[in-house]
Amino acid sequence: MKIASAVPCLLFAGAALAAQPALYHDGWIDLNKNGTEDAFEDPAQPIPARVADLLGRMTIDEKIGQLLMVEMRSNSPSALASGLAKGQIGSLIISSEGFESPAMRNRLQHIAVEQSRLGVPLVVGFDSIHGFRTLFPIPLAQSCSWEPSLLERTQTISARETAAAGIDWAFSPMVDMARDPRWGRIAEGFGEDPWLGSVYSAASVRGLQGTNVAASDRVLACLKHYVGYGAAEGGRDYNTTEISESTLRNFYLPQFKAGVQAGAWTVMSAFNELSGVPASANRHTLTGILRGEWNFPGLVVSDWGAVTQLIPQGMAGDAAGAARLALTAGVDMEMVTSTYLDTLKDQVAQGKVPEAAIEEAARRILTVKFAKGLFEHPYVDETLCQTAYLRPDARALAREAASKSCVLLKNQSNTLPISPQTKAIALIGPMADDGGQLFGCWAGLAHFEDGISLAAALRAKLSPQARLTVARGCALVERADATVAPEPFQQAVDCAKTADLVILALGEPSDWSGENKARSDITLPGRQLELFQAVAAVGKPVIAVIFNGRPLALGPVHETAAALLEAWHPGVEGANGVADALFGDVAPAGRLTTSFPRSVGQVPVHYNHLNTGRPTYGEYVDGPRDPLFPFGFGLTYTTFEYGPVRLSSPALRRNGALTATVRLKNSGARSGEEVVQLYIQALGASEAGPRPVRELKGFQKVHLDAGESRDVVFNLNGNELGFYDVRGDWLVEPGRFRLWLTKDAASGTPADFEITR
Ligand code: NOJ
Repeated sequence: MKIASAVPCLLFAGAALAAQPALYHDGWIDLNKNGTEDAFEDPAQPIPARVADLLGRMTIDEKIGQLLMVEMRSNSPSALASGLAKGQIGSLIISSEGFESPAMRNRLQHIAVEQSRLGVPLVVGFDSIHGFRTLFPIPLAQSCSWEPSLLERTQTISARETAAAGIDWAFSPMVDMARDPRWGRIAEGFGEDPWLGSVYSAASVRGLQGTNVAASDRVLACLKHYVGYGAAEGGRDYNTTEISESTLRNFYLPQFKAGVQAGAWTVMSAFNELSGVPASANRHTLTGILRGEWNFPGLVVSDWGAVTQLIPQGMAGDAAGAARLALTAGVDMEMVTSTYLDTLKDQVAQGKVPEAAIEEAARRILTVKFAKGLFEHPYVDETLCQTAYLRPDARALAREAASKSCVLLKNQSNTLPISPQTKAIALIGPMADDGGQLFGCWAGLAHFEDGISLAAALRAKLSPQARLTVARGCALVERADATVAPEPFQQAVDCAKTADLVILALGEPSDWSGENKARSDITLPGRQLELFQAVAAVGKPVIAVIFNGRPLALGPVHETAAALLEAWHPGVEGANGVADALFGDVAPAGRLTTSFPRSVGQVPVHYNHLNTGRPTYGEYVDGPRDPLFPFGFGLTYTTFEYGPVRLSSPALRRNGALTATVRLKNSGARSGEEVVQLYIQALGASEAGPRPVRELKGFQKVHLDAGESRDVVFNLNGNELGFYDVRGDWLVEPGRFRLWLTKDAASGTPADFEITR
């Protein structure tokens, strides 16, 4: 079969398939042609035995077929039907534009199960990144909640909706650590810290897969993009990365390892070149580390076309070379291109590719299919999707997640929360009345009309006597040099003049972050800053609410606004969640998981950097080197005071325990939540490599009533304080350590202790 690359989308009409002969099939049990049940069909057998039995019956063509993931829209129904019937398609990827219904999935699955010789079911994948139909805040936003259980819950709903649509596999979570806000995909990850990223990675896998991935409301998780993709040079997507082994081990790999340990069944190999070898042909990471060190039992799928891209990357000379390099490096399944299908059989005949490599890749893919229960339940209930989407519990959770993702960056004179007595509010800016722009990148199957605008959400909060006037002021992405009529600005200014309070809703379009959406400038796009300045000049208190997919250089807004709320792209219920935060129904308690640079020239800037030999040098001649907002930063509607850090002992052994305690007081007038962050620094010299100036090793989200004090206690084990050497061994070295219990990565007074032998 030829897998076409650009055939226009043809709807998969039932009629096209009706011509296919209906074969014997009774539930999942596929009696073979002799009327008996094959061993691989016996669910009482352990999975490895079932896989071995099935593999023993497969031809080399059928095994290679399992390694192929095909995109729905690029292939005509007849090509798909014929490939499926021949057992030459192992998996389907569906994109949102090509999505039809679970009935379509079942029609295709019927062909795979009933018409192919051995009846191996398809596994169907989709990009459910932060929800399916119910869109939650973008992952970067959710990470700011410092609440892994929240992510686990949103991913559980995402799995429920995704599965109801007939999809078995979500290409999520993206666990690429990123330090560069120019890179559009920073929106999809969990920020700059490997420890926190690991906690979120595991939570995400638990949310998607549950305790039984075969359940009908769960989907396979996919850890992506393995590995180093977030270090793209210049922030330009797909770009080369140069990562030392030590940095790879300590910053880029831990999130994947945590996801593997949480039981993720699949991993996606990345597009980027990694220190000289493309990630999708990188035997060291794909086989040496993933399989050899971590014993990953599942499958590796390439990213979209990443196998053929080994040719322009200069690694492979032709399709055969690309297939050979990727397969033997450890990529089991090829996404959308067909170099495996087109070349592997011949390469085996020519002795260029060991047949065992194909067998092994097929083994892993079949293992995942058995684990997902596809042999027992190849079809989905086609009625579920009628009631599965946007259920009240999903909408309520989306609203909760949106308010918990908000980070309050400034709140002069307690401008926020907005008083219910406020009589006239002006809501100004291009994000004021556009609910769809709040969705964020990878909007799943969300419908524009599912969204709620900030104007609508605020109206729902206001008393009937209060007045809300709305003016856009300018477009979201108008080019700065475009000629713009002065009227809209004037209208916005007039609107501000008649108000007691101004809310400026500014930001980036949803499609300015995500894949292939790099920016070279990280200020507010278009004329939004000018609009902000014109409106602020009116002299009314200004609350700036920013909706975006990456850290922005917000200096001028921060200086002038009375209050600044980072709302990110908050999803379908985003406006309601943000309104809850603005009015104090929920006190914003998010904390940044990525540093906010002052300007793009500081990039990359991150808290967990190494010391230089001249730690106090290295400022810019034209500005400070510290970021505008550090990792961990965020305010709330009350204030907290920290007492000194108390350690249970000045020393501990490698395996020993230590408690670190801090007295936390809510010193403000309202109840509130504080995220107490535990950082360490290893002060001793290490020949295995220097350690960062600070490393997050724990946190607790603590709720205190006004005036309440509490001891916040962390139990540490010496073993947690190590790091990876270049061989991947975890080292806990004796020496002096410093420990902070504090509110962000740039504050606090440490206590010292020692790890002894
Ligand atoms: C390319 C993206 O890099 C990846 O994240 C996504 O899962 C695949 N395409 C499938 O759409």
